[in-house]
Order: sequence, then C-alpha cells, then structure tokens
Amino acid sequence: MKNIAILGLGVVGRGTADLLEANKALIAERVGEPVNIKYILDLRDFPGTPYEKKVVHDFSVIENDPEVELVAETMGGSHPAYDYSLAALKAGKCVVTSNKEVVANFGEELLAAAKENGVSYAFEASVGGGIPIVRPLVTDFIANKIVEISGILNGTTNYILTEMKTKGKSYADALKEAQAKGYAEKDPTADVEGIDTCRKICILTALATGILPEAAKVRTIGISKIDGADVKLLEKKKYAVKLLGRMKMQDGKPCPIVAPFVCGADSPLSHVDDVFNGITVCGNTLGQTMFYGRGAGADPTASAVANDILSILKDGKTSFAPTFNKAADGDVIASENFVCRRYVRTNMAMSEVEKVLGKVVDLGGAYITEKAFAEGEFDALAGMFDSALRVL
Ligand code: HSE
Repeated sequence: MKNIAILGLGVVGRGTADLLEANKALIAERVGEPVNIKYILDLRDFPGTPYEKKVVHDFSVIENDPEVELVAETMGGSHPAYDYSLAALKAGKCVVTSNKEVVANFGEELLAAAKENGVSYAFEASVGGGIPIVRPLVTDFIANKIVEISGILNGTTNYILTEMKTKGKSYADALKEAQAKGYAEKDPTADVEGIDTCRKICILTALATGILPEAAKVRTIGISKIDGADVKLLEKKKYAVKLLGRMKMQDGKPCPIVAPFVCGADSPLSHVDDVFNGITVCGNTLGQTMFYGRGAGADPTASAVANDILSILKDGKTSFAPTFNKAADGDVIASENFVCRRYVRTNMAMSEVEKVLGKVVDLGGAYITEKAFAEGEFDALAGMFDSALRVL
C-alpha cells in the first residue's frame, strides 16, 4: 500500500481525493498496489463525508509519519503552501502540486530541495489544468530548441471572454459564473489582471529554457480594460481577442509578456473557447504544435494532480527532475522589447495612420499593421488612437 497525504480539500484537493476513490481499482493495478489517502490537512473537519476520519489540522503529523511517501499540495497561495512543501521534501517525501504561485515564485528552491533529498517535486496541474504540458515540455522536445510558446493559460478569462462574445453576457455575470464553476482564483483579480497567466508563462519558460523569469518584471496586462467595441468590430472580421501568455526567443534569450492579443481565424488559438486552454509550442525543427484541453475546474485539474501522483509512485521517487534557475540580470529580454504587429481603432484616415505606422490592413474603422513594433516603440504611439491591441 502506498500512503499519501493531501494538503487542502478545496476544489482541486477534493477533486483529487474523489478521483483517487473513483478510479481506485484501476489505480491499484497501474501502480502495482493500492494508493491510500492517509491524511487530509485542512482547517475544516468535513463531518459526514468519507474524508472525516482522515482530517488532521497539524502538518507535523504528516511530516513525521514515515509511512507517507507523497504529499499532494492543493492549498493555493504562497504560504504556508511553500513552507509545507519544503518541509515535506526535506522529510524525504515527494510533493506534487497544482499551485502555480508557489512554482512560479519558489520553483528553483523546491526543485533543488527535491534533488538534494532524492525525491521529486512535480507540478503538471500548475499550467493548463488537465492538459499534459509540463511533462511533455521536459521530455518530448529534447531534440528541439523551443523558440516560442503562446498560450491561453487562464480558463476564467477565456470563459468570460467567450460568454461575452457569444451570449452577450456582462463581464460581471460571466465572472460570477466562472467562480460558481470553480474556475476562478479565491481573489479573481489574479485571473482578470493576467497575474495567473503570468505565473504560468514563467513556468513554461523555465521548462523550455531552464530560466525562470521573475513574474513581477513581466509586462502583464489583463482583460478588465478590453473595450467591447473592439471585440465586436473584430468578431465581424473573424478575429478573436484572447488573453495570451507568450514567450519568444529573441537574440537567443526568452522574452515573456502577458496581454490580450488579436488572433486571426488562421490561428488555432482563436478557436479555443469557454474554459478551454490552448498552448502552441514552436520547436526549431518540429515547427508549431498545439496542446488543448480543459484549463480549470475540479476534475481536469485533479486529473493532472493524480497523473503526477501515479507517475511518481509507479516510476520512482526521482522520476521527475527538471532544473529551474531564477533569471539573473541579462538572462531574460525585458517585455519592453517584445515585438509584434498592432491593431488600432481610430477615426483617422488610413493615409494618416500609415504615416505613423507604415502599411496597414483596413478593417473598417480599425487597422492592423504590417510592421511589428517593440512594446517600447509602440508605447509612445498608442495614445494617438482610440484603442490599441497587440496582434498574434
Ligand atoms: N483560476 C485558474 C484559471 C485556475 O481560471 O485558469 C486554473 O489554474
């Protein structure tokens, strides 16, 4: 019997516990022995549930029990999630997590602690909900240099944008629904202002390059200021506005950014709707490949957590071991240098617009540039237009 503990019985923790129970027989067969949830750490007691007898309120019970081989951290937030994870690794227990905040902030320390103690720190559920993206980036691109990653990485904002576009719902109503469905963070500011997407693109950048950008330094623009007039105008021309986390290799170094991007119908990301996430990864020999699936919610995220649990129990304590190095000065190209084409909405005549932006494509009241502008260069021009967006 393999004994594990779950830290936090919220949406993801509960989903994981339910999945391990529902697929018990199959899991025992695949791991080679039954997987038992010995403890659940939570502040609450859950009376009348199957988990009542497993609840503990003191982490040291788990830390000091040699029978617990693995800890699933599904608490969210930096502390005490980071502290418990580190303590568990130091106690020789593998840790798996859905906590992107901890991975983005402390991935370097926790992966190093895992290595020092002969265990794994795994975080498939931290990016893309149920989509397998973390392990594939570690194992399946080793013959390629990854040159670009672009992703719809936040289910809540994609759900909101889709409901607004297809059903004409208000931003506030769509957000409430996303919260009710268990997609949103406790404080949905992290979703709508792009902070969650930023953490995820930092993690993907680290998986692709080994360098973990500092999230606070990545230019991060959310969806709260998107103008409905742009969404409507663009929809008529078959474009979609999507909140993207992007990382492009520029001058051999990663350049990350988070912002709403205009995506043309020829981009697979423009067709990723609802709570789904979509991530394109471009390898220098492979070209573009795409990962797609449910990006948030109890069941998909629990699936990723459980996959990590099973992989480690089956393949061994040290089976997942990437290395993250926090970006030092000069390791990352600042977002201000991120280069992309632009969309502008304006009453100016096309000839006037072209004097400023060079050749443009006319969308009727709005234009898309042929030239790609760096953030720093376009910042000085943006104020001339009624609105401006980046183009994928
Ligand atoms: N709040 C996150 C989202 C949860 O909406 O994508 C999954 O990380």
